[in-house]
Amino acid sequence: MFPVAGLGTRFLPATKVVPKELLPVVDKPLIQYAVEEALAAGVDTLVFVSNRNKHGIADHFDKAVEIERSLDEKGKHDVLARIRGIIPEGVSTVVVTQEEALGLGHAVLCARPVVGDEPFAVMLPDDMVMDPGRGALRQLVDLHAATGASVIGVEPVPREKTRQYGVVAVEDNPQGHQQVTAIVEKPEPEDAPSNLGVVGRYLLSGRIFELLEDTRAGVGGEIQLTDAIAALMEESEVLACQFEGRRYDCGSPMGFLEATIDYALARGELREDLLEFMASRATGSAG
Ligand code: UTP
Repeated sequence: MFPVAGLGTRFLPATKVVPKELLPVVDKPLIQYAVEEALAAGVDTLVFVSNRNKHGIADHFDKAVEIERSLDEKGKHDVLARIRGIIPEGVSTVVVTQEEALGLGHAVLCARPVVGDEPFAVMLPDDMVMDPGRGALRQLVDLHAATGASVIGVEPVPREKTRQYGVVAVEDNPQGHQQVTAIVEKPEPEDAPSNLGVVGRYLLSGRIFELLEDTRAGVGGEIQLTDAIAALMEESEVLACQFEGRRYDCGSPMGFLEATIDYALARGELREDLLEFMASRATGSAG
C-alpha cells in the first residue's frame, strides 16, 4: 500500500500541481523506485491511496500505447523494454481515494476494503532506500516470515530531529529480535524514548484496521498510524527492523538532492562526468 494522498507542503511550489511522488530522481519518479522495491519483495497487488487532486501516479503504471507504438516504429527497443517492464505480468494496481487528508492512519484505513484481513506492507515513497542487494521491504518481509510478527522499519536519527519522526523504544526479545516496547509520534528530543526513528516501511497485521477504526486524531490533529501501532503492541508482538541500505528523505529538498547525486553516481554512464562537475564546484571553479 502506498499512501500518497498527503499535500507535500515541504516541497512547494514544485508539488502544487505535480505530486511529490512523481518528482524524478535522475530519470525515474519516486513512486517507481518504491514500486520496484515492493515487487522485489514479492508484492503482487499495488494499492495507491490517493486523493482526487493528485493525478498521474497510477497512470504512470498504465500502458502508454502511443509512446510504445512510436518507440517500436523508430526501433528504440531498449527504451521500449524499459517502459514496458515497469509492471510485470500478473501484478495488479488498485487506486483508493482518501477524501480528505486526515492523516497517515486514516489513509491506511481507507484501503481496508481492498486489503482485507491479511498482513500487508505500507511504503512511503518519499523515503527512498538505496538497494543494498536485498531491498528494505524484502528485509521486513523476511523478518515477518520468520516470526509472524508485525515489523516496522527504523533507523537511528539525530536527537535534534526526533520531532520529525515516530520514535520507538526497543528491547531484545528471547529470539534476539528487537521488540518495540514504546512508540511515540514526533516527540521533542528530551521526551524521545530513543534515537530510533520510524521510516516509511511497515509490515502490519490486518488487525491494525480495527485499531485504526478506534484511533482518534492525535499529534497535529491527524489520525496517526503510530497511535494504532501503539495499540497493536499491547496485544501482539511488533518488531523493529534496522534494515540495511542508505535512506534518503526525499520529502525534503536536501534529502532529495542527496538521493539525486547518489543515484546518479551509481549510474555508470553519468558517474565520471558528474564527479568532474562536482570537483570543479568544490574547488570553486564556475565551469
Ligand atoms: P507526510 O507527513 O510526509 O506529509 O506524510 P506530506 O503531505 O507527504 O508532506 P509534507 O510533510 O506536507 O511536506 C507521510 C506519508 O503519508 C501520506 C503522504 O502522502 C506521505 O506518503 N499521507 C499523509 C496520506 O496519504 N494522507 C494523509 O492524510 C497524510
